[in-house]
Amino acid sequence: MREVRLAPLAGITDWPFRLLCFEQGCDCACTEMVSALGYVYAPRGHATLTLLEKNEGEGRLLLQLFGKDPDVMARAAEALSQDARFAGIDLNMGCPAHKVACSGEGSGLMRTPEVAGAIMRGVVKASRLPVSVKFRLGWDAEHINVRDMARLAEDCGVSEMTVHGRTRVQMYSGQADWDRIGEVKQAVKIPVFGNGDIFTAEQALHRLNDYGLDGVVIGRGAMGNPWLFAQIRSALRGETFTLPTPREKVEMALRHYRLLLGWKPERIAVGEMRKHIGWYIHGLRGAARMRDEINKMNRPEEVYSALMSFAEQAEALPESGPLPPYGIERGKG
Ligand SMILES: Cc1cc2nc3c(=O)[nH]c(=O)nc-3n(C[C@H](O)[C@H](O)[C@H](O)COP(=O)(O)O)c2cc1C
Repeated sequence: MREVRLAPLAGITDWPFRLLCFEQGCDCACTEMVSALGYVYAPRGHATLTLLEKNEGEGRLLLQLFGKDPDVMARAAEALSQDARFAGIDLNMGCPAHKVACSGEGSGLMRTPEVAGAIMRGVVKASRLPVSVKFRLGWDAEHINVRDMARLAEDCGVSEMTVHGRTRVQMYSGQADWDRIGEVKQAVKIPVFGNGDIFTAEQALHRLNDYGLDGVVIGRGAMGNPWLFAQIRSALRGETFTLPTPREKVEMALRHYRLLLGWKPERIAVGEMRKHIGWYIHGLRGAARMRDEINKMNRPEEVYSALMSFAEQAEALPESGPLPPYGIERGKG
């Protein structure tokens, strides 16, 4: 079966958001990246424990580790793979953020295949769970080595991989190169999942069909739009999908709000929800003004009632505006 997965997005794919994606038919998700070093030296640290939280309503969840020390990565994987909440350990070899990549972690590992190999071998040996890896195409256009890295991963016993079709230097600019992802699929026998710039069901279907991939992995396209999973599932079955109404979008935003408020302190939840609400209502008439107002509100009740009246008025008017902005937090992922 071809899978439709949710990508790891630091600062975004916590359990409340993942739960909403699973409810819409997401097959598998990944935690935000967790520092292996942080976990090994402070396994009960608040930040790490928060990243490891899983809701019982969630489906198959991979735990993503980042780091550059093979021994530390193996120790973290050994301990975390005994945690029944996770279905697999995913290794981050794609993060382009300066402090991660330039210190030899994340996509920086694509410049040091010998270290990447030692990590993959060590983690496969230490982990009780299947191990996957997430690559970019390479460091820059002159050093595209994802096919070699993919073969190396397969030799090391990695069981599947995701490829984001950009180099590290591209960060999030330009377009993901799916031909390169297709070449990786041809080069290895283990499952390959493609990632990059999927914002519609049509795009997902084309990518799956054109490159014979085992699935697609969706990041920014799911932000404010967990329905994308249901939409792609419908498209795969050859069925049509009715897009959510403005009211349904606002109701989803409110549900997201309640989940976050039930988990995090109010001040934090209110701050974090601002960006999500902006994504949920993007494209609806009056969204920019509503977003500005909500950004000034500090009490959830105020936000609820503002959103409810916004929904009523938006329902009466046609939608406008281009596709959402998919704002990227600099330095993430
Ligand atoms: C805000 C943000 C955070 C990210 N965090 C991670 C991360 O923790 N681990 C990771 O492997 N990739 C991370 N990524 C990369 C995404 O998983 C994905 O590869 C990238 O966004 C391309 O997919 P898309 O075009 O569907 O968004 C992040 C991307 C963004 C925009």
